[in-house]
Amino acid sequence: MSGSWEEFFATHLPPTDFEDNRSLLKEFCDRHHQQGHKIVLVTSGGTTVPLEHNTVRFVDNFSAGRRGAASTEYFLEHGYAVIFMHRQKSLEPFARHFSGPKLLDMLEMHEHGNNTTITVKQDSVFVLAPVLARYQAALAAGAILHLAFTTVSDYFWLLRAACEVLAKFGPRAVLYLAAAVSDFYVPKDRVPTHKIQTESGAPVIQLQLVPKLLAPLVSLWVPNAFVVSFKLETDESILISKAKAALEKYKHKVVVANMLQTRTQRVVVVTRELNQEIVLTREEVHAGMDIEAPIVSEIVRLHGEHETERGAGGGR
Ligand code: PMT
Repeated sequence: MSGSWEEFFATHLPPTDFEDNRSLLKEFCDRHHQQGHKIVLVTSGGTTVPLEHNTVRFVDNFSAGRRGAASTEYFLEHGYAVIFMHRQKSLEPFARHFSGPKLLDMLEMHEHGNNTTITVKQDSVFVLAPVLARYQAALAAGAILHLAFTTVSDYFWLLRAACEVLAKFGPRAVLYLAAAVSDFYVPKDRVPTHKIQTESGAPVIQLQLVPKLLAPLVSLWVPNAFVVSFKLETDESILISKAKAALEKYKHKVVVANMLQTRTQRVVVVTRELNQEIVLTREEVHAGMDIEAPIVSEIVRLHGEHETERGAGGGR
């Protein structure tokens, strides 16, 4: 059995940088609200579950944060202000194009006596320049706010704080919940303070279900926002039924359903009315196209419909 979300907040302290992040959120949202912008909260990457308070070991998951980082770039292109709430050290928008040694491979060094200069190789300029231009434009417009989490508890606190400031946007806000949130955790009172020692043999660790935050998020915190959740499965035969069940249970608008193995090439955008498959062709995959481009276009289109419906006084 999972405890309630209220109990989770009551038993887990906020992260140490919480108040700083809350101020950043408030400043960012006030500014974009005044300017009448659309706004999206993109969550990205996986949460950890610490096995010790002074954490040496933790339970983690596969998520690299590619979905959230790439989607952020496309939401910016569509004119949205973006709160990019991501797992510390997971992929980030723009920088994701140059992860690993890719950036270093684009540079060359010139020694002139005591002076050294570094330049971008001529054949890399056409790769770097458009990404750099988009990055600098987003910074200059103050259109993106980065917030980082590590544990599932950090994620909970940040998500609720973001919802508190997004509520005033009403139907103009999108929540795009692509983070892979831990489904299980070790209750705080069962987490040892120090590193688990080997002398007493292999530990038996009992995990408990994490409460689903989608429930209070949709019904209480941002009832007018356009909420998009994600559903990841490894068994295709249950993917769509689980996505439909989530829509039924939480009463939000869209579930983007994906399979672990094919998540960069195929997703299904599931609404109450229809299941829309988005698939990249083999050529598109080889050309390096992001599936997030058509996913975000479709979400932006559906969000437009939601705004019209709500603006016209339509119900959920
Ligand atoms: O990061 P990448 O490597 O690019 O991979 C992208 C992705 C596969 C992680 C992404 O596309 C994805 O599917 N993310 C959601 C995966 C997931 O955790 O699904 P879920 O069934 O556990 O959760 C379903 C929804 O409930 C999620 O939108 C989640 O935000 C929400 N949730 C989950 C747990 C929790 N305690 N509360 C929640 O509200």
